[in-house]
Amino acid sequence: MKSLVKHWTTMETSIAAISQIQDFVETTPQESPSRNGSTGFKPEIDANGGMALTLTHVSAKYSVNGSNVLSDLSLNIAPGEKVVICGRSGSGKSSFLNVLLKMIHITGDLHIGHQPSSSFGNQELRHNLNTIPQDPYFFPGIIRKNLDPDSSSSDEAIDALINRVGLENEIAKCGGLEGELAIESFSAGQLQLLSLARGVLNPRGLLLLDEATSRNSVDYETDKKMHDMIFEDFADQTVICIAEMNYIALIVWWWWIKGGL
Ligand SMILES: Nc1ncnc2c1ncn2[C@@H]1O[C@H](COP(=O)(O)OP(=O)(O)OP(=O)(O)O)[C@@H](O)[C@H]1O
Ligand SMILES: [Mg+2]
Repeated sequence: MKSLVKHWTTMETSIAAISQIQDFVETTPQESPSRNGSTGFKPEIDANGGMALTLTHVSAKYSVNGSNVLSDLSLNIAPGEKVVICGRSGSGKSSFLNVLLKMIHITGDLHIGHQPSSSFGNQELRHNLNTIPQDPYFFPGIIRKNLDPDSSSSDEAIDALINRVGLENEIAKCGGLEGELAIESFSAGQLQLLSLARGVLNPRGLLLLDEATSRNSVDYETDKKMHDMIFEDFADQTVICIAEMNYIALIVWWWWIKGGL
């Protein structure tokens, strides 16, 4: 009887979970890949590999009837420029990146790579920008596919980069490039490094970092390695970096001694 009750309750809980997932799949609205534009265009990259951005009177909100989280923002970012954004929590830093990725509703004029953002489909735009959020995302699958989704790099190039970020032992433990990526066996900092390695293998002209090198998630060594890579491998690309207030001075100083500002 005890066993019957135990299994019955477990089954009830499991069925409720399935029902919730089914409900989520059926009722959650999904954006269509080309909701805001046609497909087939790529953002323009200048001869050196950087991407220009122009925002003119851009306002943004998360829902059509909601209030603006960014209001009347105008700025020009030249190709290859390195921009650091800071501000208090909730001031709209991540929302700014969401604007560039067309994740939220915007009014005003946004040009990415000299072309209006409306000329790109959402998915192709996101595919053509390099984004490193605070919690990098990797999908279930083999390591090679995660690091080089377009299969545009040779095994040698990927191996060289893995050695450079110092993750050869962890990758070997997963079974090499063709092994499954076991996310749980990597630390937060190591995942950031992998994410940056993915960006180096797939240059896009624009790198967006959302508190990616925040000290909360990476140690000093990882942090230094990341800044070295950003400076060397993304030297000609446009970089927009969101950073904590107390971290700005360090980044500015770092980029300044490297001659990047
Ligand atoms: N998914 C969302 N839906 C509705 N409102 C949101 C959503 N995400 C953020 N906001 C609102 O947008 C505003 C800006 O938030 P945002 O996440 O851009 O701030 P932030 O500057 O990145 O903060 P933090 O430093 O804590 O990461 C906040 O008022 C927040 O409540
Ligand atoms: Mg944020």
